[in-house]
Amino acid sequence: MLVAEKLTKEYASGAGALAVLRDVSFTITDGELVSIIGPSGSGKTTLLGLLAGLDTPSRGAVLLDGTDLARLDEDARAKVRGEKVGFVFQSFQLIPTLTAIENVTAPLELRGDVPTKVAIARATALLDRVGLSGRHTHFPTQLSGGEQQRVAIARAFVNEPRILFADEPTGNLDGSTGARIVELLEELNRERGSTVVLVTHDAQLAARTQRTIQLKDGVIVADRRNPPVTADTTAASLHHTEDRGHDASTPGHEARASSDASAAA
Ligand SMILES: Nc1ncnc2c1ncn2[C@@H]1O[C@H](COP(=O)(O)OP(=O)(O)OP(=O)(O)O)[C@@H](O)[C@H]1O
Ligand SMILES: [Mg+2]
Repeated sequence: MLVAEKLTKEYASGAGALAVLRDVSFTITDGELVSIIGPSGSGKTTLLGLLAGLDTPSRGAVLLDGTDLARLDEDARAKVRGEKVGFVFQSFQLIPTLTAIENVTAPLELRGDVPTKVAIARATALLDRVGLSGRHTHFPTQLSGGEQQRVAIARAFVNEPRILFADEPTGNLDGSTGARIVELLEELNRERGSTVVLVTHDAQLAARTQRTIQLKDGVIVADRRNPPVTADTTAASLHHTEDRGHDASTPGHEARASSDASAAA
């Protein structure tokens, strides 16, 4: 379970403190597939960084399975991230001196308990699945933006994280490659029960997730359940999403129950 409790993030600016997130609160239960949307500059990447323990809030708390991430020192936070969290950065952040496959195996090598052979086999399978079969030994500078993004996605998946954060994972991809990545995210969520939190500008992708949290100017302006989507109702679901609006105080578990009920109906 992931709880954001009155998260506020401020940066020093000329005129004083600039709040880029203000009193952001929600609960994400295990196994949820959640999208975060909002205009450029609304605080989405900042929020994801706080949730993943990459950054600490000015006020408020992030509780990951009951542990307040800000109360851990950097080493302990890194350990939690290594064990539980996968992160796909908006800017990829691949290691430039490592090849594609070395970037993907890096998290397994950091763990130290996965034999190299197993790590390479896993990374190979993942790179193939994201459509990079012929690119294993390329360095990041030899890859296109979309290809780098797919390496970053393979790297985030390699640990089979309990929680995966993805910052615009389809932002640099064409429609069909993007769809393949979304299917991979959905599969991790469905088959491994991993929680997936993704930031997107793509309304259709957001509508495919179970729940959408909408930010504007650093505050939550909507937190709603999306109706289950089948391929032929994608357009209709975008419309219904608006009809079924919940306010930001809707608890995650209640909303989830209603979604499960409608999925069963
Ligand atoms: N280190 C920093 N110092 C000062 N301001 C910052 C810093 N990092 C982010 N900001 C500001 O915080 C605001 C939110 O940034 P953030 O990257 O979270 O937005 P975003 O919603 O992810 O936008 P985009 O859709 O463009 O990626 C922006 O106005 C940005 O200028
Ligand atoms: Mg961003």
